Amino acid sequence: EDKAVLVVGSYAQDLVWNSKTFPAPGETLVGKFRTGPGGKGSNQAVAAARVSNGTKVMFCGCVGDDLFGTGARDFQAKQGIDVRVKVHPTIPTGTAGILVNDEGQNSIVVALGSNLELKSEDVSDDMLQSAGIIVMQHEIDPAVNEAVLSRARALGVTTVLNPAPMAPISETTLASVDILAPNETEFATMLQQRGIEVNVDLSKDPIEQVTTAIAEASAALPVRTVVVTLGSRGVCVYDKEAMDTPIFIPAFHVHCVDSTGAGDAFIGGFATKFVENGGDVVDAAKFGNATAALSVTKEGTAPAMPTRGEVEDMLQD
Ligand code: RIB
Ligand code: NA
Repeated sequence: EDKAVLVVGSYAQDLVWNSKTFPAPGETLVGKFRTGPGGKGSNQAVAAARVSNGTKVMFCGCVGDDLFGTGARDFQAKQGIDVRVKVHPTIPTGTAGILVNDEGQNSIVVALGSNLELKSEDVSDDMLQSAGIIVMQHEIDPAVNEAVLSRARALGVTTVLNPAPMAPISETTLASVDILAPNETEFATMLQQRGIEVNVDLSKDPIEQVTTAIAEASAALPVRTVVVTLGSRGVCVYDKEAMDTPIFIPAFHVHCVDSTGAGDAFIGGFATKFVENGGDVVDAAKFGNATAALSVTKEGTAPAMPTRGEVEDMLQD
């Protein structure tokens, strides 16, 4: 039977305020408000489902017994996701307060709420066995990441960790990761925490220096594949066993309306394509790259995820 994409992680209700600039401390600005489905895990599952060509996408998480939680499950089901969500009786659904300025940049505060109530047992062996890839992030209890990734590894499922938002990663967790997929800031910070020196500014220095630095730093990490997203510059893919040097995939140039969730779009697109193509990471990253580019052209996170057709058109031009 065809393998599925399994995303285990967070849902958050996004509460979004748009203003021309970000407010300075003590400043009040007048702006616009909207709310919608978010949370890194759910966003990734939505992206994966929208770009899927028949590959099943499962989402496992925990919401509260409230309107946001009901809305989350309805929204996910409408995207064709196989929703495996636990409902906690008392702890409220996670929320994210998001500020977006006129340049499409964002600042976020997340209250994890019910997401912290997800347990390893909530991810059944059946779910893991049906998955060709499992994707996790940093918006649930880190002990659950550790336990679930290790169970997935034991069952031979390809494991992806998107260490967002930035938090220390335990050695045990890292030991169960096949594909580590941070953004440039998360990558630099995690290297710093491990005492690995990087003398290159990954977000500014020339790409050649960046790819060299990523190759050197990756050598010291116990993961086979490192996929570092570099924002509007693109993405760098390095499979240590199959490549001599990392491969850089430049970003598509698009008009950025709202970059919130672009990283999630990348991961979702990557995961679906990876299952479809039998594990070709470069091809999957190219697909994720287009998925992310399209997502920034629209307002919002999950609702901004593109369709399969849109991604294919972008890759063909
Ligand atoms: O990555 C974007 C997401 O991060 C938002 O949807 C918000 O919910 C936060 O979790
Ligand atoms: Na967007």
